[in-house]
Amino acid sequence: MGLGHLMHHTPNPDTAGLTIDHGGTYDVFGAVFFGGRRDRVYRRLAELSGARPGDRVLDIGCGTGYLTRRLAAVADAGTVVGVDASAAVLERARKITTERNCTYSVGVAESLPGEDSSFDVVTNCLMLHHLPEDVRATALEEMWRVLRPGGRLLIGEFRPPANPLGRHLVGALTGPSMRHNPIHLLEPMVAEAGFEQIGSGDLHPWIRYITALKPGATR
Ligand SMILES: C[S@@+](CC[C@H](N)C(=O)[O-])C[C@H]1O[C@@H](n2cnc3c(N)ncnc32)[C@H](O)[C@@H]1O
Repeated sequence: MGLGHLMHHTPNPDTAGLTIDHGGTYDVFGAVFFGGRRDRVYRRLAELSGARPGDRVLDIGCGTGYLTRRLAAVADAGTVVGVDASAAVLERARKITTERNCTYSVGVAESLPGEDSSFDVVTNCLMLHHLPEDVRATALEEMWRVLRPGGRLLIGEFRPPANPLGRHLVGALTGPSMRHNPIHLLEPMVAEAGFEQIGSGDLHPWIRYITALKPGATR
């Protein structure tokens, strides 16, 4: 059992995903875990998403809205919706969000609340490893569905340390899903869902990101 168990509690009956209830604890943990780099990493993720002023953006598994708020800054006059399976974590997100173009809604990645082709950009960070491995492809199909042709996808995921001691420490702190996070499967899964122009990279200290395009109309 890792520290993560202090943050996870009430399951949402619509998902087998591991939800986070204690948003305040999660944010303290995030600040420590990123060693002061959390803001820089998430600003970069918001840039990498390709979101532009005026865009409609969906952030899935938004938690306390740390990425959602940074997306709201780049989408400017556009709108950003953060969706999370946990109503409790969204309470904190609403409380600490001042950006007026940012709203939150309870929903699950396996069956997103949005209509087909209703977003220009879809993002998720540190969310996929919360889902059982056999529903991750379904979540990607849903991301595809709600993105408009020509829309952009950004995934940020936890990149486990390369050395065994580091992985052991991460496992002790957070649990097995982060220790064994199979990020090498992300790009093939994104391609399998139909996305094109797939790119990837690492952000220090912990993030692997994937960017991709839903083919179709250009922006
Ligand atoms: C580690 S947090 C990441 C939060 C935020 N994206 C960030 O990077 O700080 C993962 C979030 O995914 C949510 N989650 C778990 N299963 C989910 C599902 N099936 N659909 C949507 N969100 C889910 C959890 O409640 C939690 O808030």
